Amino acid sequence: MPDPAHLPRLDAFLLPKGVYLDGNSLGPLSYGAQAAIERRMRQWQYHGVAGWDDWFGLAERLSGALGKLVGAYPDEVIATGSITVNLHALLATFHGIGDAFGVPAGADGGNTGARPAGTRGGLLATELDFPTDLHALQSWAELRGVPLRLVPSRDGHTLHDDDLDAALGGDVAFALLPTVLYRSGQLLDVRRWSAVARERGVVLAWDAAHSIGALPHHLHDDGADLAVWCSYKYLNAGPGAPGGLFVHRRHHDAIPGLRGWWGHDKATQFAMAPSFTKAAGAGAFQLGTPPILALAGLEGALAVFEDVGIQAVRERSLALTDHLMAQADAELPEMTVVTPRAPERRGGHVALAHPEALRLSLALRRRGVIPDFRPPDLLRLAPVALYNTEADVDRAVATLRELLDTGAHLDEAPGGPVH
Ligand SMILES: Cc1ncc(COP(=O)(O)O)c(C=O)c1O
Repeated sequence: MPDPAHLPRLDAFLLPKGVYLDGNSLGPLSYGAQAAIERRMRQWQYHGVAGWDDWFGLAERLSGALGKLVGAYPDEVIATGSITVNLHALLATFHGIGDAFGVPAGADGGNTGARPAGTRGGLLATELDFPTDLHALQSWAELRGVPLRLVPSRDGHTLHDDDLDAALGGDVAFALLPTVLYRSGQLLDVRRWSAVARERGVVLAWDAAHSIGALPHHLHDDGADLAVWCSYKYLNAGPGAPGGLFVHRRHHDAIPGLRGWWGHDKATQFAMAPSFTKAAGAGAFQLGTPPILALAGLEGALAVFEDVGIQAVRERSLALTDHLMAQADAELPEMTVVTPRAPERRGGHVALAHPEALRLSLALRRRGVIPDFRPPDLLRLAPVALYNTEADVDRAVATLRELLDTGAHLDEAPGGPVH
């Protein structure tokens, strides 16, 4: 049991009405984020362009708190972009460094697009990846004329260690894996697969969308090459708030393949030289002017984690998801828990499979319980340590039981996008 003084702060959020179990999709507004956004708005109101005296370097000032969440030195992380943009920026740089293309990292940033004959250049993702990850990798496969290979799934929900092991190698030069799979919630072993990839000369990037803010990471010590994440889920920074990226120190010589003036060395950025002098570390992968009001959401949201500590969040999250899975086993035999059971194999949400999952999710919302749905048949429930309790889980399970007993969900007529 964590020290009660360090238990998550249930009073820190302005929650929407009802039982909010969708923080794995969009985290709620915290008082901290609200105050930070309002403060930055007032700076804009009262100081206009002089606001930049304070806003310049704001992303870099968040790197200490962000680094703690992902287990990285501050110069290895930066709050910027979105997962999609950051993936493109990292692919433009790191697809093809090292022995894969016979080009040492940093010599040309690996971004010439030229592939010497006989060298490896394949890309690897998984069959279960979020679509944007696949779109980004497919773009680079086409641009560079290399294959995109996919790790298969045996059960449609999870990835098997043997399949990952078999896929990491061969002609693959750059791989992207999810830390936590967005549908089933399976958690992969970052340390193990980073070591395997490194040993085989594969650059491995992690999509940490579903793990950042839900569990501790040790990206530096685990030897991860690269990572990307968003901050609108478990970090609660707000819709479309800047995501972030991690670049291990051993790659800090690489020249970004995609460059912009915000990635320039901060000390000389406003000298306006036409040539690019890269910032030290991960900051070099920023592109254009950061959205300060959205970054303020992250600034305020990170303060909540500084207060509580990510270890306490994880312990409480595991207790809540344990409770949810036990309740589902006992009360909802018609639904199948597809999330792996072992704590070291799962993230912060639980996925329940049912052929009518879409109608069930719509009916739950109508009854004040907010879950989400992922096609074809998964209901995802995320009891989040910072603002949910066992009572929220019980209410969701009881409402599902009632729906399954009465069939009332069958009255729902799905139409339009389901977020
Ligand atoms: C695993 C994963 N990757 C990427 C994204 C979205 O990327 P972006 O932040 O670029 O919209 C999501 C969104 O839910 C996601 O779950």
